[in-house]
Amino acid sequence: MTKPSVLLSRRWPATVERAMAERFDLTVNETDRPLSPADFRAAFARFDAVCPTVSDRLGPEVFDLPAARTRILGNYGVGVSHIDLDAARRLQISVSNTPDVLSDCTADLAMTLLLMIARRVGEGERQLRSGGWTGWHPTHLIGTRVSGATLGIIGFGRIGQAMAQRAHFGFGMRILVQNRSKLPEETLIRYGATQIDTVDALLPQCDFVSLHCPGGAANRHLIDSRRLDLMRPGAFLVNTARGELVDEHALAQALWFGTIGGAALDVYDREPAIPDALLGADNLVMLPHLGSATDRTREAMGLRVMDNLSAFFDGRRLPDRVI
Ligand code: DGY
Repeated sequence: MTKPSVLLSRRWPATVERAMAERFDLTVNETDRPLSPADFRAAFARFDAVCPTVSDRLGPEVFDLPAARTRILGNYGVGVSHIDLDAARRLQISVSNTPDVLSDCTADLAMTLLLMIARRVGEGERQLRSGGWTGWHPTHLIGTRVSGATLGIIGFGRIGQAMAQRAHFGFGMRILVQNRSKLPEETLIRYGATQIDTVDALLPQCDFVSLHCPGGAANRHLIDSRRLDLMRPGAFLVNTARGELVDEHALAQALWFGTIGGAALDVYDREPAIPDALLGADNLVMLPHLGSATDRTREAMGLRVMDNLSAFFDGRRLPDRVI
């Protein structure tokens, strides 16, 4: 029996590429550079499955075809805001993602960022490496206490809950959450959390705010200048979810004018481009989209895509169906 043909848009961990090559007729984008819309359109005519990831842009123009051979997009990652789902649906292409397997590592990184910005870790390291450290003194690089502070979590899915687990049980933080739907009482009790109805009502109550909701058009600029003004002076914003959630221009202004204490970002609106105004801000920690970047998680993500493609081509239910 012929194996389904599958394209990986980027290089994956070697163990998973090997496993995929045994199961499928596999083609890998050896250049490991993002494919263009024209590349994707050509791939949709040639492969049974295409596996994109967050660095790809699959907007409406990519799906502007009369028909496609591709029947499934096995997305390597949980977020799918880089894929025009309505356009995929029109071409009758299914989409799967990789939930669960990256929740712990992404929450670990969100907690890392929270600690880094609160305790001025980036500034301290830059000072030391540049030879600017003159020695210990009582007023040197004074940061903000994390233990016992109030953390607001926007989006209380798997990653938001993993963040609450770390913050509440590891650092004794008080947890407030805002979520699209009403959360079951037992979920809130598990993390000692209180649900707040709206983002506007949550922001003024928090010392730290961490974003864990989906990106996409509906949540674009969820944190804009008006909402940054609602944050406490001295409060910190952490974003490990999606760049489009934050208006970067408004954030840069809030950082430069000191209307909030600082921010810590792992994701950006036009990755890998970073606005100059952000690059120069000292009260900002920035990482290059590392949330899921551990060996075990990146392998697990690949295996999760493989499970979805196997189920699809075996005619079984898609375990992680997005559409
Ligand atoms: C995802 O899974 O959406 C991440 O952003 C990639 O790590």
